[in-house]
Amino acid sequence: MPVTVVIGAQWGDEGKAKVIDLLAKDHSVVARYQGGHNAGHTVVVGTEKYALQLIPSGVFYGHVTPVIGNGVVVDLPTLFAEIDRLESRGISCTKLRVSSQAHLIFPWHQSHDAISEAIRGGDKIGTTLKGIGPAYADKARRTGIRAGEVLDPVRFAEVVRRVGKEQNALIAHLGGEQLDLDDVVTRFTKYAERLAPYVENTVDLLHDAVESGESVLLEGAQATFLDLDHGTYPYVTSSNPTAGGAVSGSGLGPRLIDRIVGITKAYTTRVGSGPFPTELTDDTGDRLVDIGREFGTVTGRRRRTGWVDCVMLRHAARVNSLTELALTKLDVLDDYDEIKVCVGYELDGRPLRGYPDRSEVLARVTPVYETIPGWKTVLGRCRSAADLPASARRFISVVEQQSGVPVRIVGVGPERDDVLMWDGGGR
Ligand code: GDP
Ligand code: IMO
Ligand code: MG
Repeated sequence: MPVTVVIGAQWGDEGKAKVIDLLAKDHSVVARYQGGHNAGHTVVVGTEKYALQLIPSGVFYGHVTPVIGNGVVVDLPTLFAEIDRLESRGISCTKLRVSSQAHLIFPWHQSHDAISEAIRGGDKIGTTLKGIGPAYADKARRTGIRAGEVLDPVRFAEVVRRVGKEQNALIAHLGGEQLDLDDVVTRFTKYAERLAPYVENTVDLLHDAVESGESVLLEGAQATFLDLDHGTYPYVTSSNPTAGGAVSGSGLGPRLIDRIVGITKAYTTRVGSGPFPTELTDDTGDRLVDIGREFGTVTGRRRRTGWVDCVMLRHAARVNSLTELALTKLDVLDDYDEIKVCVGYELDGRPLRGYPDRSEVLARVTPVYETIPGWKTVLGRCRSAADLPASARRFISVVEQQSGVPVRIVGVGPERDDVLMWDGGGR
């Protein structure tokens, strides 16, 4: 079967890009289906490190057509800066295709993002301030401007000015700073001209690829617990990173998808506000930040850290129909004397069934842990399950048993080759 989806199983930054780069070798098309430049996807190729925000992580292979699907919100200044950066480093983006149905982000979306975070004050979401939520809100309000509109430049400029006027009135009402509309129209008219050759009916492109026997990889951004419906609302993003979003955000029907890979770190991180049951606010957590280099790719913010949470993974497995897990950053735990795996939650002293549907409840749960002795060995050179020390194998087995999903890929370092295929470790 032709379509694979890669989805974050936690709160983002699980190492999706590295796994996509690995899988892209065997795929013809790699398509983003939601989110925007709030994503920070890191791919390390040899000594070169690339941080991608909008361009799909398959771009490093000449045989791959990178696609920005209809479910993505596209910030044109970021897109072109990214293309220029990649091309100046010898990575061609000429095969890139952008869906005519993808919505565009405008400076007023960033203004609204900042205003609503300021209004929330101490209860802010901690967004990336990239205008993602407001752009999706305009899509839902049916006032958004789509990429296809750049194909008629005269009308595009008129629409940008008209919408910009309305947005300026709203911003004034909220006490924000007015945008210089002449400047916005001039800049975006130039961006529109540059975007036009990339615009395509990507729904047809993806179906044509599948029908001619090519394989398609759908690249999730953000993650299950940042999903607008299934995440820890309101501390979520404004799209659907979960498997349903892969369908609506690409236009490929669900029956075409046969492989759904959930990515999880061997621990957990979160950027921004919201409940986090296994969070470590002590030295143990600080060491995860230091060793795992847990600082945001996009905003540079320090990530919150904690133990791996199998209650989350079980829920991610359900919501996404995960067929397998990729367990990344196992090497970050190399030096720990003991490692904890959350296997359940208690609420008011009683075991809780399933994943709470309300953030208020999640904020009050107490994690139940299984403790595993650390392996105290450097895993960076391990290239097969047999190379792993017994306690690392045990850790992986516990994650598999507790999440109910087989682990297939294990990450032992940031580079392309720092990976091994897990075959059950002899089970
Ligand atoms: P994404 O948003 O899910 O694609 O993940 P990010 O790129 O934001 O963050 C993951 C970080 O972990 C990046 O810096 C990767 O280079 C790094 N990384 C990925 N897999 C591994 C791994 O197995 N071990 C280590 N040490 N680093 C990894
Ligand atoms: P990748 O694809 C981690 C978080 C923000 C904030 C919330 C809402 O690299 O895993 P938004 O700007 O989307 O409205 O912010 O979501 N967030 C991410 N956290 N990784 C990401 O992307 C994220 N994209 C958004 O920190 O808490
Ligand atoms: Mg990231």
